[in-house]
Amino acid sequence: MSKKEPGPETIYVCRCEEITLSEIHEWIDRGYDTVEELKRILRVGMGPCQGRGCQDILMREIAKKTGKPLTEVAPATVRPPVKPIKIGLLADGGKD
Ligand code: FES
Repeated sequence: MSKKEPGPETIYVCRCEEITLSEIHEWIDRGYDTVEELKRILRVGMGPCQGRGCQDILMREIAKKTGKPLTEVAPATVRPPVKPIKIGLLADGGKD
């Protein structure tokens, strides 16, 4: 049994959407170097955790690859609800 060495192809940046570090690097190299663009093209940050598990890593990778300071890498736009909720809660108008 051969064991695969950990590398960009086996490191998951977004575990929810199964997006690897090598995919992130590939699309940044193609010019998609904002969180919003990568979100649209790869669905990174659109899983059940809504980017809580991957957005900081994604922003760091963009900063590293583009040479921009991390403070210049904008996070994704946040739209409510900010975390997954049951649709019944909305239907009840928040009464529970
Ligand atoms: S880890 Fe990326 S959306 Fe959850």
